[in-house]
Amino acid sequence: MADAPEDPATRIDTLRAQLNRHARAYYELDAPEIPDADYDRLLRELADLEDANPELATDDSPTRRVGGATNTAFAPVTHTVPMMSLHNAFDIDELRGWNERVERRLEGQPVPAYAVELKFDGLAISLRYENGVLVQGATRGDGKVGEDVTHNVRTIADIPSHLTGDYPPVLEARGEVYMRLSSFAALNERQVEAAKATGKEPKLYINPRNTAAGSLRQVDAGVTADRELSFFCYQLGVVEGGPELTSHTQTLEWLGSLGLPVNEHTKAIASIDEVEGRIAEFQKKRHELDYEFDGVVTKVNDLRLQRELGADAKAPRWAIAYKLPPEERTTTLLDIEVSIGPSGQATPFARLDPVFVGGVTVGTATLHNQDQVAAKDVRPGDTVIVRRAGDVIPEVVGPVLSDRPADSVPWEFPTDCPVCGERLVRDEGAAATHCVNFRCDRQIRGRIEHFAGRAAMDIEFLGEKNVDRFVTLGLVEDVADLYTMDFDKVLELEGFKEKSVENLRTAIEISKSRPLGNLLFGLRIPEIGQVNGQTLAAAFGSMDHIMAASVEEIAAVDGFGMVIAEAVHAWFSRPEAQDLIGRLTAAGLTMEAAIVDRSAPQTLEGKTVVVSGTLAGFTRDGAKEAIVARGGKSPGSVSKKTLALVIGADPGASKVTKAEEAGVPVLDESGFLELLESGEVPEV
Ligand code: IVH
Repeated sequence: MADAPEDPATRIDTLRAQLNRHARAYYELDAPEIPDADYDRLLRELADLEDANPELATDDSPTRRVGGATNTAFAPVTHTVPMMSLHNAFDIDELRGWNERVERRLEGQPVPAYAVELKFDGLAISLRYENGVLVQGATRGDGKVGEDVTHNVRTIADIPSHLTGDYPPVLEARGEVYMRLSSFAALNERQVEAAKATGKEPKLYINPRNTAAGSLRQVDAGVTADRELSFFCYQLGVVEGGPELTSHTQTLEWLGSLGLPVNEHTKAIASIDEVEGRIAEFQKKRHELDYEFDGVVTKVNDLRLQRELGADAKAPRWAIAYKLPPEERTTTLLDIEVSIGPSGQATPFARLDPVFVGGVTVGTATLHNQDQVAAKDVRPGDTVIVRRAGDVIPEVVGPVLSDRPADSVPWEFPTDCPVCGERLVRDEGAAATHCVNFRCDRQIRGRIEHFAGRAAMDIEFLGEKNVDRFVTLGLVEDVADLYTMDFDKVLELEGFKEKSVENLRTAIEISKSRPLGNLLFGLRIPEIGQVNGQTLAAAFGSMDHIMAASVEEIAAVDGFGMVIAEAVHAWFSRPEAQDLIGRLTAAGLTMEAAIVDRSAPQTLEGKTVVVSGTLAGFTRDGAKEAIVARGGKSPGSVSKKTLALVIGADPGASKVTKAEEAGVPVLDESGFLELLESGEVPEV
């Protein structure tokens, strides 16, 4: 039987108690237990219930409160002009609804113009300057009384101790103290280094916002100074004297002229119709900037209209914060498992109760490595904060400790490989752990998948699923086995017919003629990526020469050096590697580097031309060879540096789109012939 729905009064009580607890954790202890998005949802539910049941509304409800209370460690500071909060809009309709209310209140006047700016994710602060000298810095507190943090504010490099220009006798500048992402990363890096020295697990900071808030509310200013905080100014408090200001954007310009940091992205717009475009632009920038923002603030730009609109108990009516979709949510950590990568690396990951975050549903999230699990101390059964920002892979930020089950125990890294059962060994001096079994099924599959990949031997019809089956059935154990595989056995497998077996056999056969550089890359030799594979092939001319080369000779290759040379030399010295190459040679693979014919005129010297699709007069590699023979390069993908994209039949759609976006000319085969001849891109 389903639970009976709670009556509104009980639900309101529950929500108020929860919100009060979370507000204390957030504002006073700087240790929030739930992400902001969850807090906002609870607050919204409470506001809706209070709207529907006005008799249950109270003055001390969290819906009427600005921020949190103050900490007794700091002297109280009374804000003569209260530091208010902002109302939120969670979608465009709510934003438009707000605009309609503004227009209604300003009836009879032209539609208001707005200023649009970022909602920085930090801690609000008020700075008081008297005769141009910084005399006080205070937190917002409950909006009326904040905390005196002058000693800490003085350590922030962005905050001038003296104003410049034409400053008034008294000025309160308000804004957000925040931590740059680069400073946050550096701080955690220092934590890791410090932990190494003591042999303890590092204590990592969870996110820049909490760290900034915690750093500002330190009794010891030395700690604050160490954390590299930053500041953006976005509002005025008390001002005595000074110019007659008429708009918000003009105010910001003036604050900037006094030496206070204002954000460069604030922009005036003529009407609400432009706001959606601005929000979309900001959303695109969300992961480009060196600081976090969780919303976009729209403010009525005209200060006279702002005064006319006024404020309610909590926030001004002339501004609204549009909240961007949350990038952090909470969910249950069902279990921690370890996946084995193609090179045997063991990576712990979280199996989660699926949660919608950062625009997608997330069911698993990486935990990176053993140290990270220990530093975060996440345990199966925990409620955890999950973060997915932009295209970044989802990550578990940390546990919500107050929700931890009483019987929970720390998670321990498994001792054995979940695939083959052999030992997992932590790499010396590194955070990574590996399966030591070279013959582990996962590693075998990983090596073959890589070998067959497009950038290596490009073996069509040998996808991950087939590799998986062939390895599981023992048909292949290493890449050389592909060339002696028993195709009669393949034919017996479900899903294979004469035709598909023939296709696979042909594809494997064709791969024998792939260039030596591709083969070297395909062998997964440490340090040998695509580019180094080609370089190695070109430098020594043949597999025999590479195998016979000394460390010094390899190190002398342009762009290599000792680290690469030692790794390459060590790999070729292993008997298994020599055996493998012996069998690949016997199978008839290309072991000589193609001799580049330099007799053609070097029309494409230093230029890059990409080819996609089938050309009538060239084979697949022939077109590339023609480019290389003329001194050019022909990589597989289009970039801004590409001189032209040549397309034949069935070109790759993404390459064409990329070329169009990057303004790279697209040529057909006849254009290509002209280009080869003259080195100039013909008019299209
Ligand atoms: S204006 C009277 N502008 O968001 C209006 N606030 O949720 C006061 N915030 O307390 C606020 N960026 O800590 C304003 N561009 C911005 C902001 C901003 C971040 C913070 C500020 C405020 C909170 C309200």
